[in-house]
Amino acid sequence: MASLLFLVGFLLAFHSFSLSTTSAEVVETSFHVKNLTTSRLCQNHVITAVNGSLPGPTLRVKEGDTLVVHVFNESPYNLTIHWHGVFQMRTQWADGPEFITQCPIRPGNSYTYRFNLTGQVGTLWWHAHTQWLRATVYGALIIRPRDGQKYPFVKPYREETIILGEWWNANVIDVENTALATGVSPNNSDAYTINGWPGDLYPSCPSNKTYTLQVVPGQTYLLRIINAALNGHLFFKIANHNFTVVGADAAYTNPYRTDVVVIAPGQTVDALLTANQSPGLYYMAARPYASAVGLQINNSTTTAILAYQNATQTTPVLPILPALNDTPTAFTFESNMTALVTSPFWRPVPQPVDENMFITMGLGISECGNNQTCGGIFGQRMAASMNNHSFAFPTTISLLEAHFRNVSGVYTTDFPNQPPLQFDYTNTNNSFNQTLMTTPKLTSVKPLKFNATVQVVFQNTALVGVENHPMHLHGVNFYILAQGFGNYDPVNDPRKFNLVNPQERNTLGVPVGGWAVIRFRANNPGVWFIHCHLDVHLPWGLATAFVVENGGTPETTLPPPPADFPRC
Ligand code: C2O
Repeated sequence: MASLLFLVGFLLAFHSFSLSTTSAEVVETSFHVKNLTTSRLCQNHVITAVNGSLPGPTLRVKEGDTLVVHVFNESPYNLTIHWHGVFQMRTQWADGPEFITQCPIRPGNSYTYRFNLTGQVGTLWWHAHTQWLRATVYGALIIRPRDGQKYPFVKPYREETIILGEWWNANVIDVENTALATGVSPNNSDAYTINGWPGDLYPSCPSNKTYTLQVVPGQTYLLRIINAALNGHLFFKIANHNFTVVGADAAYTNPYRTDVVVIAPGQTVDALLTANQSPGLYYMAARPYASAVGLQINNSTTTAILAYQNATQTTPVLPILPALNDTPTAFTFESNMTALVTSPFWRPVPQPVDENMFITMGLGISECGNNQTCGGIFGQRMAASMNNHSFAFPTTISLLEAHFRNVSGVYTTDFPNQPPLQFDYTNTNNSFNQTLMTTPKLTSVKPLKFNATVQVVFQNTALVGVENHPMHLHGVNFYILAQGFGNYDPVNDPRKFNLVNPQERNTLGVPVGGWAVIRFRANNPGVWFIHCHLDVHLPWGLATAFVVENGGTPETTLPPPPADFPRC
C-alpha cells in the first residue's frame, strides 16, 4: 500500500513536472525600428519608433518562457535594446547597453535578442540603450505566472499598462549632442506622457489625444505602472482613489496602501485599483518629484482619464499632487515597501558580506579639453561620478567582449571600494569646492568573484548640489537594506538594516543628500552595468560596471557571443 501511494505520488510529481516544462513557450517577435512622423503638442515630429508606435509594442510572456526578438535597425541611428530588469542568466550578450555588453546595431543591420524569463513575475520594460533614443524607443515587458501558478493577491478583473514617458519637441539625439558639445546641461523636455500622450493640461488641438482607461464600477484592476521618462522622477495619483501596491520591478511586495505612487526613471510599480467611487471621470496625473534645489526642470503635469462605465459628468476631477519638492512623501513611499517572503521567487538576504563597498555618487565637473570652450560650471564640462571616477564609455569594443576575449587597454579594474578622499559629503558648503568637484574620466570597473555577496553603501554628495539619483543595476536584483539622509553612519546605521523582508529591486532612488544600502549575490558571470537612470547623468559618467568571474561549471560560465553579434 505504501509503495503504491509512493508510486502515485511519484507519477503525480512527474506529471506536474512535465506540465510545467512543456508549458514554457518560445515567444518570437520582430522590432522594426525606423523614422515615424507623429504629432504631439500640436506639431508634427519625426521620431525613432518601434513598429510605428509610441510607446512601442507590449511584450507578454509567462514566467519561464523564452523571448526571441529580431531587431531590424531601419533608423538613421546606432541602436541597441535593453531588457530592463531581466537577469540574462547565460544570455549575457543579450543585455543590450551600448559598449557595455555589445556594439550598436548599425543602421541597416539586425540582431536577434534571445533570452528567458525565469524567476521573476510582474512588470519590466524594454528600451533603447544608446544615447537618448529611449525617449521614443520603449515599451512594456509583462511577465505573468506560468500555468498552474497564481498571483499572491486577488485576481484582477483586468490588467492595464500605464507607461509614463517624457517628450521633447526637438530631436532628442540633437538635444543630447548639443549639450555634450559644450559640456552644459541639456534642454528640458516639453511634456510628460501617459501611454504616449501628454493629456489635457497641455495646449489642445485635434491631433492631441488623452489616454482613457474605461472601468466597470466595483471591479479591481491591476495597473502596471512604468516610469520610462528620461529624467523625470514622478508622483502619480488618481483623483479620489487609492492603490494597493503588490509588486515593484517584477518582485512581489507585501500589500501597501497609498494614495500616491512615487516612481523613479527605470522603476515599475504594480498596484491594484478598485473602481469603488461614484461612477464618473477621474484624472490620473503625474508630475515630477524635483529633489534638487533650484534646478530648472520641466514641472508640467501629464494626465489621462479613468472613465467609469455610464459616467454622466463631462469634466474629470483632478487629483492634488504632492508639491514638487515633497521629499517626505517620496521617502515614505520608497522606504516603506517590503518584500513578500512567501513568494515562490523570494530568496533570503545573503550573508555574510564578502565585498564591502562605499560609493559616493553625484555631480561634478571634468576638464573642458584643449582648444575647446565649455559652458559648464567654472568653464568646465558638467560631469558626474561614482567614487570620483567619471565613467567614459569604450568606443571600439564592448566591455563584455573585451573581458571575454582578454583584450587589454579597454578598461581598468581599479574602481575603488572607497572614495579617494573623505569629506563631509552632504555639506552644501562644499558644493562648489573646485578641487572636490573635479573628476577624471575613466573606464574603470569592479571585478567580483563568482557568488560573492556584495554590499554597497551609496552616498549622495552635495557637489554641485544634492539630488536623488535612481541607481540601476543590470543582471541581478538587489535588496534595499536601509536608506536615510545625511552622511551614512557605519556604526549606528547597520542596526537599521532590514535583513528579513527588504524590498528587492533593480532600480533605487538614493535619497537626496542621503544614502542607501543595497546587497546582492554576484551569481551571474558577465559584465553588469550600474548607473544612474537619469539620462542627463549617464553620459556625464554616473556609472561603472561589475565584472563577475565565471563560476567553474558550464552552467556558470560566460558562453561565446551568438553568431549575429554586432561588430564594431
Ligand atoms: Cu533601463 Cu542600463 O538601463
